Amino acid sequence: MRIYEVKDYQEMSRKAANILAAQVILKPDCVLGLATGSTPIGAYDALVEKYENGDLDFSEVKTVNLDEYKGLTRENDQSYYYFMHEHLFDRVNIKLENTNVPDGTEADGAKECARYEALIASMGGVDIQLLGLGRNGHIGFNEPADHFEKMTHCVDLAESTIEANKRFFASADDVPRQAYTMGIGTIMKAKKILLIVNGEDKADALAKVLRGPVTPKVQGSILQLHQDVVVVADQAALSKM
Ligand code: GLP
Repeated sequence: MRIYEVKDYQEMSRKAANILAAQVILKPDCVLGLATGSTPIGAYDALVEKYENGDLDFSEVKTVNLDEYKGLTRENDQSYYYFMHEHLFDRVNIKLENTNVPDGTEADGAKECARYEALIASMGGVDIQLLGLGRNGHIGFNEPADHFEKMTHCVDLAESTIEANKRFFASADDVPRQAYTMGIGTIMKAKKILLIVNGEDKADALAKVLRGPVTPKVQGSILQLHQDVVVVADQAALSKM
Protein backbone atom coordinates (compact mmCIF):
# COMPACT_ATOMS: atom_id res chain seq x y z
CA MET A 1 0.00 0.00 0.00
CA ARG A 2 1.33 3.41 -0.97
CA ILE A 3 0.11 6.41 1.03
CA TYR A 4 0.48 9.93 -0.32
CA GLU A 5 -0.05 12.67 2.25
CA VAL A 6 -1.11 15.89 0.56
CA LYS A 7 -1.80 19.37 1.87
CA ASP A 8 -5.46 19.79 1.13
CA TYR A 9 -8.50 18.87 -0.96
CA GLN A 10 -7.15 20.61 -4.04
CA GLU A 11 -3.87 18.75 -3.96
CA MET A 12 -5.67 15.45 -3.29
CA SER A 13 -7.92 16.05 -6.28
CA ARG A 14 -5.04 16.91 -8.60
CA LYS A 15 -3.03 13.87 -7.57
CA ALA A 16 -6.01 11.54 -7.90
CA ALA A 17 -6.76 12.92 -11.36
CA ASN A 18 -3.13 12.42 -12.37
CA ILE A 19 -3.26 8.77 -11.31
CA LEU A 20 -6.53 8.18 -13.18
CA ALA A 21 -5.19 10.04 -16.22
CA ALA A 22 -2.05 7.89 -16.21
CA GLN A 23 -4.27 4.81 -16.33
CA VAL A 24 -6.23 6.18 -19.30
CA ILE A 25 -3.05 7.13 -21.15
CA LEU A 26 -1.41 3.75 -20.55
CA LYS A 27 -4.56 1.81 -21.50
CA PRO A 28 -7.00 3.95 -23.53
CA ASP A 29 -9.72 1.27 -23.41
CA CYS A 30 -9.40 0.70 -19.66
CA VAL A 31 -12.28 0.09 -17.25
CA LEU A 32 -12.47 2.83 -14.63
CA GLY A 33 -14.39 2.05 -11.45
CA LEU A 34 -15.89 5.34 -10.32
CA ALA A 35 -17.26 6.76 -7.10
CA THR A 36 -19.62 9.51 -6.01
CA GLY A 37 -19.91 11.72 -2.94
CA SER A 38 -18.31 15.08 -2.31
CA THR A 39 -14.76 13.67 -2.19
CA PRO A 40 -14.18 12.90 -5.91
CA ILE A 41 -15.77 16.05 -7.36
CA GLY A 42 -12.44 17.92 -7.50
CA ALA A 43 -10.73 14.96 -9.16
CA TYR A 44 -13.45 14.86 -11.83
CA ASP A 45 -13.03 18.61 -12.41
CA ALA A 46 -9.29 18.07 -12.85
CA LEU A 47 -9.90 15.25 -15.35
CA VAL A 48 -12.26 17.49 -17.32
CA GLU A 49 -9.55 20.14 -17.39
CA LYS A 50 -7.05 17.66 -18.81
CA TYR A 51 -9.60 16.65 -21.44
CA GLU A 52 -10.24 20.28 -22.36
CA ASN A 53 -6.50 20.88 -22.67
CA GLY A 54 -6.29 18.02 -25.15
CA ASP A 55 -4.27 15.82 -22.79
CA LEU A 56 -6.84 13.11 -22.22
CA ASP A 57 -9.09 11.10 -24.53
CA PHE A 58 -12.04 9.19 -23.08
CA SER A 59 -13.36 7.86 -26.39
CA GLU A 60 -12.47 4.25 -25.61
CA VAL A 61 -12.77 4.37 -21.82
CA LYS A 62 -15.41 2.25 -20.08
CA THR A 63 -16.73 2.92 -16.61
CA VAL A 64 -18.60 1.13 -13.84
CA ASN A 65 -19.86 2.98 -10.80
CA LEU A 66 -19.75 1.58 -7.31
CA ASP A 67 -23.30 2.13 -6.21
CA GLU A 68 -26.70 3.74 -6.65
CA TYR A 69 -29.62 4.59 -4.38
CA LYS A 70 -32.50 2.17 -4.79
CA GLY A 71 -35.66 3.88 -6.01
CA LEU A 72 -34.16 7.05 -7.49
CA THR A 73 -34.69 7.68 -11.19
CA ARG A 74 -31.91 8.86 -13.47
CA GLU A 75 -33.57 12.29 -13.61
CA ASN A 76 -33.47 12.69 -9.83
CA ASP A 77 -30.63 15.11 -9.11
CA GLN A 78 -29.61 13.03 -6.09
CA SER A 79 -29.17 9.83 -8.07
CA TYR A 80 -25.60 8.77 -8.69
CA TYR A 81 -26.46 8.45 -12.39
CA TYR A 82 -27.28 12.17 -12.41
CA PHE A 83 -24.16 12.98 -10.39
CA MET A 84 -21.85 11.18 -12.81
CA HIS A 85 -23.35 12.95 -15.81
CA GLU A 86 -23.14 16.31 -14.11
CA HIS A 87 -19.58 15.97 -12.88
CA LEU A 88 -17.91 13.90 -15.59
CA PHE A 89 -19.75 12.06 -18.35
CA ASP A 90 -21.42 15.08 -19.97
CA ARG A 91 -18.18 17.06 -19.88
CA VAL A 92 -15.77 14.71 -21.69
CA ASN A 93 -15.85 12.63 -24.88
CA ILE A 94 -16.83 9.38 -23.20
CA LYS A 95 -19.40 7.26 -25.06
CA LEU A 96 -22.47 7.06 -22.88
CA GLU A 97 -23.01 3.43 -23.83
CA ASN A 98 -19.63 2.73 -22.20
CA THR A 99 -20.74 4.13 -18.83
CA ASN A 100 -22.50 2.00 -16.24
CA VAL A 101 -24.27 2.77 -12.99
CA PRO A 102 -26.52 0.26 -11.17
CA ASP A 103 -30.15 0.80 -12.12
CA GLY A 104 -31.84 2.17 -9.00
CA THR A 105 -35.26 1.89 -10.60
CA GLU A 106 -35.07 -1.89 -10.93
CA ALA A 107 -37.25 -3.09 -8.07
CA ASP A 108 -35.93 -6.64 -8.26
CA GLY A 109 -32.69 -6.29 -6.30
CA ALA A 110 -31.43 -9.82 -6.92
CA LYS A 111 -31.93 -9.40 -10.66
CA GLU A 112 -30.22 -6.03 -10.90
CA CYS A 113 -27.28 -7.03 -8.71
CA ALA A 114 -26.70 -10.22 -10.71
CA ARG A 115 -26.88 -8.22 -13.96
CA TYR A 116 -24.35 -5.69 -12.68
CA GLU A 117 -21.92 -8.29 -11.38
CA ALA A 118 -22.05 -10.16 -14.71
CA LEU A 119 -21.58 -6.89 -16.59
CA ILE A 120 -18.36 -6.08 -14.72
CA ALA A 121 -17.04 -9.59 -15.37
CA SER A 122 -17.93 -9.33 -19.08
CA MET A 123 -15.90 -6.12 -19.29
CA GLY A 124 -12.84 -7.99 -18.06
CA GLY A 125 -12.87 -6.48 -14.57
CA VAL A 126 -11.93 -3.06 -13.28
CA ASP A 127 -8.46 -1.68 -14.02
CA ILE A 128 -8.55 1.00 -11.33
CA GLN A 129 -11.27 1.52 -8.75
CA LEU A 130 -11.65 4.98 -7.25
CA LEU A 131 -13.02 4.96 -3.69
CA GLY A 132 -14.10 7.55 -1.18
CA LEU A 133 -14.54 6.65 2.48
CA GLY A 134 -17.69 6.83 4.60
CA ARG A 135 -17.41 8.24 8.11
CA ASN A 136 -18.14 4.76 9.44
CA GLY A 137 -15.41 3.26 7.26
CA HIS A 138 -17.75 2.14 4.48
CA ILE A 139 -16.57 1.78 0.89
CA GLY A 140 -19.21 1.92 -1.82
CA PHE A 141 -22.26 1.42 0.36
CA ASN A 142 -20.82 -1.57 2.23
CA GLU A 143 -21.96 -0.68 5.73
CA PRO A 144 -20.50 -2.02 9.00
CA ALA A 145 -21.69 -5.61 9.38
CA ASP A 146 -20.80 -9.03 10.75
CA HIS A 147 -19.38 -10.18 7.46
CA PHE A 148 -18.07 -8.93 4.12
CA GLU A 149 -20.55 -9.18 1.23
CA LYS A 150 -18.81 -10.63 -1.78
CA MET A 151 -20.99 -9.57 -4.70
CA THR A 152 -23.07 -6.61 -5.79
CA HIS A 153 -26.04 -6.56 -3.43
CA CYS A 154 -28.86 -4.49 -2.02
CA VAL A 155 -27.99 -2.88 1.30
CA ASP A 156 -29.96 -1.17 4.07
CA LEU A 157 -28.19 2.11 4.69
CA ALA A 158 -26.84 2.73 8.19
CA GLU A 159 -28.48 5.53 10.18
CA SER A 160 -25.11 7.31 10.30
CA THR A 161 -24.93 7.21 6.49
CA ILE A 162 -28.45 8.59 6.14
CA GLU A 163 -27.46 11.29 8.61
CA ALA A 164 -24.22 12.08 6.72
CA ASN A 165 -25.92 12.15 3.30
CA LYS A 166 -29.02 14.09 4.27
CA ARG A 167 -27.16 17.32 3.50
CA PHE A 168 -27.78 16.59 -0.17
CA PHE A 169 -31.55 16.05 0.28
CA ALA A 170 -34.41 18.29 1.42
CA SER A 171 -34.57 16.30 4.68
CA ALA A 172 -33.37 13.03 6.24
CA ASP A 173 -36.76 11.52 5.35
CA ASP A 174 -35.96 12.00 1.67
CA VAL A 175 -32.76 9.95 1.80
CA PRO A 176 -33.42 6.50 0.29
CA ARG A 177 -33.14 3.69 2.85
CA GLN A 178 -31.57 1.21 0.47
CA ALA A 179 -28.92 1.13 -2.23
CA TYR A 180 -27.32 -1.25 -4.71
CA THR A 181 -23.59 -1.50 -4.21
CA MET A 182 -20.65 -3.48 -5.49
CA GLY A 183 -19.71 -5.99 -2.82
CA ILE A 184 -16.37 -6.12 -1.06
CA GLY A 185 -15.43 -9.07 -3.28
CA THR A 186 -16.31 -7.03 -6.36
CA ILE A 187 -14.17 -4.11 -5.18
CA MET A 188 -11.25 -6.34 -4.17
CA LYS A 189 -11.15 -7.85 -7.66
CA ALA A 190 -10.13 -4.47 -9.13
CA LYS A 191 -6.54 -4.61 -10.35
CA LYS A 192 -5.69 -1.34 -8.66
CA ILE A 193 -7.49 0.72 -6.01
CA LEU A 194 -7.24 4.45 -5.46
CA LEU A 195 -8.67 5.59 -2.11
CA ILE A 196 -9.06 9.33 -1.64
CA VAL A 197 -9.89 10.89 1.72
CA ASN A 198 -9.96 14.43 3.02
CA GLY A 199 -10.99 16.26 6.14
CA GLU A 200 -10.69 15.75 9.87
CA ASP A 201 -14.11 14.11 10.13
CA LYS A 202 -12.68 11.11 8.24
CA ALA A 203 -9.51 10.85 10.37
CA ASP A 204 -10.85 8.19 12.77
CA ALA A 205 -12.23 6.06 9.98
CA LEU A 206 -9.05 6.35 7.92
CA ALA A 207 -6.80 5.36 10.84
CA LYS A 208 -8.96 2.26 11.40
CA VAL A 209 -8.97 1.43 7.69
CA LEU A 210 -5.22 1.72 7.30
CA ARG A 211 -3.90 0.49 10.65
CA GLY A 212 -6.74 -1.21 12.53
CA PRO A 213 -7.70 -4.87 12.47
CA VAL A 214 -9.26 -6.15 9.25
CA THR A 215 -12.89 -6.38 10.25
CA PRO A 216 -16.32 -6.11 8.60
CA LYS A 217 -17.17 -3.57 11.31
CA VAL A 218 -14.87 -1.25 9.33
CA GLN A 219 -15.43 -2.47 5.80
CA GLY A 220 -12.61 -0.40 4.27
CA SER A 221 -10.07 -2.24 6.44
CA ILE A 222 -10.20 -5.10 3.90
CA LEU A 223 -8.11 -2.88 1.62
CA GLN A 224 -5.08 -3.82 3.74
CA LEU A 225 -5.28 -7.21 2.00
CA HIS A 226 -5.32 -5.84 -1.55
CA GLN A 227 -2.02 -6.03 -3.40
CA ASP A 228 -2.16 -2.66 -5.15
CA VAL A 229 -3.74 0.18 -3.19
CA VAL A 230 -2.82 3.84 -3.47
CA VAL A 231 -4.16 6.19 -0.81
CA VAL A 232 -4.21 9.93 -1.39
CA ALA A 233 -5.27 11.72 1.78
CA ASP A 234 -4.85 15.21 3.13
CA GLN A 235 -3.08 16.07 6.38
CA ALA A 236 -6.36 16.47 8.26
CA ALA A 237 -7.58 13.00 7.25
CA LEU A 238 -4.23 11.48 8.27
CA SER A 239 -4.09 13.36 11.57
CA LYS A 240 -5.05 10.33 13.70
CA MET A 241 -2.38 8.08 12.26
C1 GLP B 1 -21.39 7.83 0.20
C2 GLP B 1 -21.00 6.92 -0.99
C3 GLP B 1 -19.56 6.53 -0.93
C4 GLP B 1 -18.74 7.74 -0.52
C5 GLP B 1 -19.04 8.08 0.91
C6 GLP B 1 -18.40 9.37 1.38
O1 GLP B 1 -22.46 7.39 0.92
N1 GLP B 1 -21.79 5.75 -1.17
O2 GLP B 1 -19.15 5.99 -2.18
O3 GLP B 1 -17.37 7.46 -0.63
O4 GLP B 1 -20.41 8.03 1.19
O5 GLP B 1 -19.03 10.47 0.86
P1 GLP B 1 -18.38 11.90 0.84
O6 GLP B 1 -17.29 11.84 -0.18
O7 GLP B 1 -19.47 12.85 0.44
O8 GLP B 1 -17.86 12.16 2.21
